Formats: sequence, C-alpha cells, structure tokens
Amino acid sequence: MLASSPRDASHGRVTERQTEVAAWFDRTYQTAGFKYLRPIEAYPIFLQLLDGKPGERLLDVACGLGLLLKAATLRDIQPTGIDISAAAIEIAQRFVPQADLRVGNVEQLPFADGAFDMLTCIGALERFLDRERALQEMHRVLTPTGRMCVMVRNAQGVGWKVWRKWLGQQNHTGHQDAKTLEQWRALLESQGFDVQGVYMDQWGRQKLRRLLRGFRPRDLTQPEPVARPLLSLRLAYEFILILRKRERPTA
Ligand SMILES: C[S@@+](CC[C@H](N)C(=O)[O-])C[C@H]1O[C@@H](n2cnc3c(N)ncnc32)[C@H](O)[C@@H]1O
Repeated sequence: MLASSPRDASHGRVTERQTEVAAWFDRTYQTAGFKYLRPIEAYPIFLQLLDGKPGERLLDVACGLGLLLKAATLRDIQPTGIDISAAAIEIAQRFVPQADLRVGNVEQLPFADGAFDMLTCIGALERFLDRERALQEMHRVLTPTGRMCVMVRNAQGVGWKVWRKWLGQQNHTGHQDAKTLEQWRALLESQGFDVQGVYMDQWGRQKLRRLLRGFRPRDLTQPEPVARPLLSLRLAYEFILILRKRERPTA
C-alpha cells in the first residue's frame, strides 16, 4: 500500500521523494504524452459541475498537459495551471498558450491569497506527499466563497483493487493511492471545505455516449448529461467531489 509518510512531508521544499515523483511524471509525459491522459472531451464536465462562468479565474492544480485548461478557454474562463512536472508544463504551454502556466509544488503555491474563484484538482490529490499542506494552500488561494472540484480514487472500487494488486510496488515512484469516500470527505472537511455534491467518475458513461454517436466529436461548450451510478456510488472507480470553501478550523 502506498501512502505518504511523515518523512515525506516537504512543506514546499524539494525532498528526495518529491523529486522522484516529479521525475516519474517527467518520464511518463515524455514517453506517452497525451496518451497518458483522457481525451479532452472528458474534461468539460468538471467545469459544468462547478458551474464555471465566463470571466471567472480558475486554477487547475496538477494540471498535467493542460486539457482542463483548454476546456476552460472554450468557456471564456481565465486559465491558470501549475504542475510539478516541467515536461508536462512544457507541452501544456504549446497546447494552451493563453494560460498562465507554472512549474511548482502544490504544497507551496506561488499565488496570492484569494486569487481564484474556482479550483480544480483532477486525479492528483492521491499523488501528493503532504495532502493536508496541499489542501491548506488550495484553501488559501481561493476567494472566501470559492468553489473546488476534485476527482479522487476510491479505495473500495473494484478497479483500484485489481490495479493495485497488478501494480504492486512497481508504481511507487508515481505515488498512487486511494481512500474511501468517508476518508476523502473527512480529509476535505478538516481542511475547511464543505462537500456540496458527490458524483461517480463520468468517463465510463462519456465513452459509451461517444461510441453510440459513432466517435463523432461533440460540442465541448454544450452541457452534457450527468451520469448516476447504476448500482452504488461506492463502487465507482473514482469520485468527483464539488466543494465550497468555508473558514478553516483553527488548530
Ligand atoms: C494523473 S496526472 C493528472 C493530470 C491532470 N490533472 C489531468 O487530469 O489531466 C497527476 C498530475 O499530478 C502532478 N503532481 C503530482 N504531485 C504534484 C505536486 N506535489 N504538485 C504539483 N503537481 C503534482 C503530476 O505531475 C501529474 O501531472
């Protein structure tokens, strides 16, 4: 089981372990590029669930190659992104030239307090070495009424159980992890976020709709149906949580 240990808590400093994680992502993006991630049509749903409006300022934390930021530009949302992988940011700069893109660690965000109306963090919270510290920073850079969308992996999902068994320690350097819905909720609430909605990962249903329309591209500015679980939310491979900032409890 991969988990962050107190030794890894970098508080923004570059630890050996953090360098390893960044190097793993650099290699992955250099070899696989966009094939490592979902296609762009998987991303507008996060902005839809956040009710993102033209002119709002968005920070995508751990933005990877900038796919969500590209979707944001199609909605006239102001795009900013940060990722620890310099290789990712180099590609993202070509893919979304309008975006403000930075190489950096989420544990020390180079942005002013309250600089963003919305924040997204897709498929990355489980990769952070010090999640509390990361969430404190994410909380800080949001406006007092800021909204946030995270997609995180479900420890109880069948997909993760098979994946983890298969990966074993091999993927240690990518720092993969998962938690139950209750654990994610408790972590987010403890860091000053109220959970407003929980959804299953939408990608399975998006793929099905794509197949049914014969792989024709869809208009990414138009709303899409929000899929509900056929059985139980608890079986989802990943959870999408919609959150709103509130005052952080004082320690
Ligand atoms: C699975 S990828 C997801 C990328 C992007 N959010 C997407 O969905 O297309 C996880 C990303 O987290 C980034 N990452 C991991 N640890 C980070 C950290 N401490 N600070 C910033 N980015 C980090 C990686 O470089 C990688 O791009």
